[in-house]
Amino acid sequence: MKGYPDIRMRRLRQSRSIRRLFDAPLPGPEKFIWPLFVAEGSGKREAIDAMPGQYRLSPDTLCREVEASVKAGIGGVLLFGLTEEEKKDGSGTEACCSTGSVQQAVRVLKKEFPELTVMTDVCLCAYTSHGHCGPLTGSGDVDNDGALEQLARTALSHAEAGADCVAPSAMMDGQVQAIRSALDGEGFKDTLLMSYSTKFASSMYGPFRDAEQSAPGKGDRQGYQQSYRDKRQAVRESLLDENEGADILMVKPALMYLDIIKEIRERTELPLACYNVSGEYSMMIASAERGWGDLKAMVRESVAAMDRAGSDIIISYWAGRYNEIFTD
Ligand code: PBG
Ligand code: ZN
Repeated sequence: MKGYPDIRMRRLRQSRSIRRLFDAPLPGPEKFIWPLFVAEGSGKREAIDAMPGQYRLSPDTLCREVEASVKAGIGGVLLFGLTEEEKKDGSGTEACCSTGSVQQAVRVLKKEFPELTVMTDVCLCAYTSHGHCGPLTGSGDVDNDGALEQLARTALSHAEAGADCVAPSAMMDGQVQAIRSALDGEGFKDTLLMSYSTKFASSMYGPFRDAEQSAPGKGDRQGYQQSYRDKRQAVRESLLDENEGADILMVKPALMYLDIIKEIRERTELPLACYNVSGEYSMMIASAERGWGDLKAMVRESVAAMDRAGSDIIISYWAGRYNEIFTD
């Protein structure tokens, strides 16, 4: 057979020092965004059962929690708000409250770490009594246009608190445009908008819904989140948000959607984020705890995959454990 054994691939792999000449670097800390859960009150640091190593924090404890990661040089944080059960209502009114947990957390973080990029998740499911991402119509559907107003108010309240970037995740049609025009209308022309542009109806959000206490009471999110069996529509979702004025696009989850990341990467010049979701985080921990894999090695390999697929930034709970996982 021509070419064999004249071509010896193993020559390029014979030692660590030769291999590393050609190995692409893993993304540095500056490419990672750490999603964090912010609860009301003070002095709180509640372990999240389904996400070992992640906590529900009150605004005051948040600063201490992120200090080491900020020193490690992570690219930013993405805040998810929680509210008390009795403050939830049909339309998620509490989400835009200027004294809500996220709004307070943004203010303390920007004061403590002015250089840290602070992003906020903009959705209503943690604030609605029924757990859906928008108010319901009489027939029990999620009311798209009703959600837009509340989402825009919520994004505005985050920008007013000082958020650098707002990130709508409700998958309502027109949410990017609605939020962009609300921000511009109030003079927040420099507030970035990162759209959860292709967000799949995924079974990998389980641990997050435990953390956020935001599972829909009835039904599921397939009426607004993207079906993973329709690739063309998945790509359209992101391209549409580019047209509506998003600054950054996103694919979520990440590991089961590397093909989608690659496809969207090739069809836009916008920056592209991927969201390495809770189920992807917890499944590696569960596997490692059973002795079925080495945690550091599995996480590094998965991060290399997200990077190769074309993600510019990686939103991941591992950001909070950057030194543990990525330094030797
Ligand atoms: C809700 C929201 C979800 C996540 C981010 N924002 C869950 C959902 O859609 O049910 C998932 C994040 C994760 O699993 O890490 N708008
Ligand atoms: Zn939601």
